[in-house]
Amino acid sequence: MMPQKRGQVPSRIAMSSYWKVLGIFLLFLQSALSLQPAQPSVLLVSFDGFRWDYIYRVSTPNFHYAMKNGVHVRQVTNVFITKTYPNHYTLVTGLYAESHGIVANEMFDPVLNETFSLNKMNTHNSKFWEEASPIWVTNQREGHKSGAAMWPGTDVKIHGVLPTHYMPYNESVPFEDRVAKLIDWFTSEEPINFGLLYWEQPDEMGHLLGPENPLMGAIISDIDRKLGYLISELKKAKLWDVINVIVTSDHGMSQSSSERLIELDQYVSRELYEVIDHSPTVAILPKEGKLEEVYEALANAHPNMTVYKKEQIPDRFHYKHNIKIQPILAVADKGWEIVRNKTDGFLIGNHGYDNTIPEMHPIFLAAGPAFRKNATKQFMNATDLYPLLCHLLGINPLPNNGSLNAVKDILVERVPGARGADSYSTVIGVFLGSLLVLVFTAVFVKHFVLAQANSMQIQHTEAAQPLLQD
Ligand SMILES: *[C@@H]1O[C@H](CO)[C@@H](O)[C@H](O)[C@H]1NC(C)=O
Ligand SMILES: *[C@@H]1O[C@H](CO)[C@@H](O)[C@H](O)[C@H]1NC(C)=O
Ligand SMILES: *[C@@H]1O[C@H](CO)[C@@H](O)[C@H](O)[C@H]1NC(C)=O
Ligand SMILES: *[C@@H]1O[C@H](CO)[C@@H](O)[C@H](O)[C@H]1NC(C)=O
Ligand SMILES: *[C@@H]1O[C@H](CO)[C@@H](O)[C@H](O)[C@H]1NC(C)=O
Ligand SMILES: *[C@@H]1O[C@H](CO)[C@@H](O)[C@H](O)[C@H]1NC(C)=O
Ligand SMILES: *[C@@H]1O[C@H](CO)[C@@H](O)[C@H](O)[C@H]1NC(C)=O
Ligand SMILES: [Zn+2]
Repeated sequence: MMPQKRGQVPSRIAMSSYWKVLGIFLLFLQSALSLQPAQPSVLLVSFDGFRWDYIYRVSTPNFHYAMKNGVHVRQVTNVFITKTYPNHYTLVTGLYAESHGIVANEMFDPVLNETFSLNKMNTHNSKFWEEASPIWVTNQREGHKSGAAMWPGTDVKIHGVLPTHYMPYNESVPFEDRVAKLIDWFTSEEPINFGLLYWEQPDEMGHLLGPENPLMGAIISDIDRKLGYLISELKKAKLWDVINVIVTSDHGMSQSSSERLIELDQYVSRELYEVIDHSPTVAILPKEGKLEEVYEALANAHPNMTVYKKEQIPDRFHYKHNIKIQPILAVADKGWEIVRNKTDGFLIGNHGYDNTIPEMHPIFLAAGPAFRKNATKQFMNATDLYPLLCHLLGINPLPNNGSLNAVKDILVERVPGARGADSYSTVIGVFLGSLLVLVFTAVFVKHFVLAQANSMQIQHTEAAQPLLQD
């Protein structure tokens, strides 16, 4: 062993402060790298009412192009009730309707004594939305920017937050204008990492024509052209290869008929209750003290209508524990409609039925650097999209009813840009960091040893020699 030399003591102090400096430098390096990852971005698209099997009805080359370049999930179980607002909010919260609180398109909150109505476009009362925090709120709280083109709820201040960019809802704004806005936001100097795009079709025409109407073919073709337009605009903006695009919907559609009407007036006086939400899953608010009478009158009224008291609603619907769910729920069988009498009218195509019915299920496909190519998955829960989106965006999911594990198999093994040990940016960061440490150490060692050599006895320089051979 070499005897301790006095001269070495100050050198060791110098060395330990060197390590401190290096340590601090590395901390800075690491935080710089983690603050500026290769921005992973996501565009979530909903074509309202696009049933899972519409892509097999007519030629849909753009849907098939996206499927070849990405993942297609054939059966996505959406949430009960299979209506627009509940399901759009599930996609962005990962929660069942009873937990996110948007339990229907038409709601009454007995505590607030207020109503929420899609039909009357009275949907801007924040209180109805604030049982949950949608993903754009979390995304922005984590320092990112979001942009929304008409997605339900994105023009409502939720927990005090609006999307960084959004378009106030206006059904007349053309698809092309919505796409243009999103491209602007993704390519601006302070780009968004998360975009949401909503389009009203084929839902509206599905309601008017009925999904079995041959004229639906032209409507589906038009949506396919719109997807083609979106893809070509993304390509023009050099975004198609770098962003993760998910195309989905809120629900499907099934065919109704004047032969399948259930008329409540035949069983109970309409003076005894109020209809809050409409066919085919009807939310019934009995008048004061009339709960039993209304329930008894309807319970076994018609073989194609199942009537529940709120507490009897099956657990599998996850549609019970919320003050906005009314005391009685009447659920029609597929293809049946519940009206008070025939004057009420009904829609020849409708949705809102049991969420296990395949006709209620939406399309789902995803393409981009995070996703496998030309891959098919059989089943998925709509609640799983939220944890997947959070993973792609590198943000922390709030408590939810989905599972990232259940959908991990649609991802490529290494998710570019996503948080975690398997991301490219982390790998590159670690590589660059290690390289810097090596260079820094080599330079230091050279410097240190040279300094040592100068102050040391001749015999000690021999021991240091090998270190100088770099
Ligand atoms: C609820 O609001 C309505 C008007 O929208 C009003 O007539 C009624 O008195 C209110 N009920 C209570 C309990 O405040
Ligand atoms: C809705 O959009 C259309 C088409 O861009 C426009 O003409 C109309 O003024 C807009 N309506 C409102 C209320 O902004
Ligand atoms: C309607 O009810 C009848 C009698 O219970 C049943 O046979 C039929 O399957 C029901 N229709 C649907 C679509 O469930
Ligand atoms: C439906 O009920 C309304 C209100 O009671 C009544 O005016 C109408 O005539 C009824 N229609 C039919 C077809 O019974
Ligand atoms: C996509 O997958 C299908 C079925 O797995 C296969 O037949 C087809 O050749 C694949 N296409 C491409 C372009 O890889
Ligand atoms: C969907 O969720 C239910 C309830 O959590 C679960 O039992 C089922 O396995 C899930 N399905 C898939 C395909 O992950
Ligand atoms: C869904 O998630 C919420 C939030 O974590 C939770 O409160 C609720 O109990 C969950 N529902 C079910 C059926 O697990
Ligand atoms: Zn819808």
